[in-house]
Amino acid sequence: KGGFEHFMLKEIYEQPKAMRDTMTGRLNAESKLITFPELNWTPDEMSDINKIFIVACGTAYHAGIVGKYYLEQLARVPVEVDIASEFRYRNPVLEPESMAVIISQSGETSDTLAALREAKRLGSRTLAVTNVVGSSIAREADQVVYTYAGPEIAVASTKAYTTQLLAMLMLAVYVGRLRGSLAEEKAEALATGLVSIPEQIHKMLEDVDQIKVFAREYGSSEDAFFLGRSLDYAVALEGALKLKEISYIHAEAYAAGELKHGTLALIVSGVPVIVLATQMDVYDKTVSNLQEVKAREAVVIAIGFEGDTSLGKYADHVIYIPKTDKYLAPLLAVLPL
Ligand code: BG6
Repeated sequence: KGGFEHFMLKEIYEQPKAMRDTMTGRLNAESKLITFPELNWTPDEMSDINKIFIVACGTAYHAGIVGKYYLEQLARVPVEVDIASEFRYRNPVLEPESMAVIISQSGETSDTLAALREAKRLGSRTLAVTNVVGSSIAREADQVVYTYAGPEIAVASTKAYTTQLLAMLMLAVYVGRLRGSLAEEKAEALATGLVSIPEQIHKMLEDVDQIKVFAREYGSSEDAFFLGRSLDYAVALEGALKLKEISYIHAEAYAAGELKHGTLALIVSGVPVIVLATQMDVYDKTVSNLQEVKAREAVVIAIGFEGDTSLGKYADHVIYIPKTDKYLAPLLAVLPL
């Protein structure tokens, strides 16, 4: 366990190295180019893709939801994300111009492997994103993008999830450039931002005392809610799953805008609500949702950028993460979660 109390803690602290290893050979820090030599795709091949289906289970599924935002916003490809156990039985409309992206840390999850086989049976191209070389999913997919997180022993995924996000972001930039739908300067800005991520993660992991305070204060809660919009919502899903898996607290993630359609009824005095507020294009709306739950006497822990001076006015606590591009924010916002 490398001197750590348990594997999960060891794997959380391996994330800077896992990120660097997953960028190696794909992100060139000098040229700011992101490529996948192992895929060697051409502009024509990529322009022919009319839809991407991302299929996975559990944490990998949540990484797929973040991947949807990346591919739709940066590569302008329509993306549908499916839970593997649903995909395999719903007779999905896949065509030769579709691409199925199968995400699986172990590369052995049976529903995900079955979904891969179903996508191939329907004639779709298949790409595996997996952390285990030579796994069944890696062997049976047409092509493979490996994450290099190293063995993940803990049942609850941490470094595999963050390297899956990294792989999906780099893929979106790669595909976006090939399809001509992503400007070179945006691609370079993202590459520049990615170079700093491992060190930013390292620094964040050095100071976790605030988290220990929250654990003591809210660890006995029965319920917890995670709210966010856009990419913050996608990350909130993983935050809720982590809390469920590790603490056995009933935790749910909601799109912050959906709160008023029912869930607000469950927000009673003292319920901890974690609000992610890194997506500045929907920031004001997220803050108004934060005020809604405060009005019902929830205890709000907000996740925001360093330098954000307004969150502290409304939230009971704020966990600050380094300011970064909105597409890179999930890589940092998930750490405290
Ligand atoms: C679950 C694990 O059993 O399977 C989760 O507890 C994981 O952490 C899920 O996300 C999917 O596993 P994999 O290996 O296909 O990513």
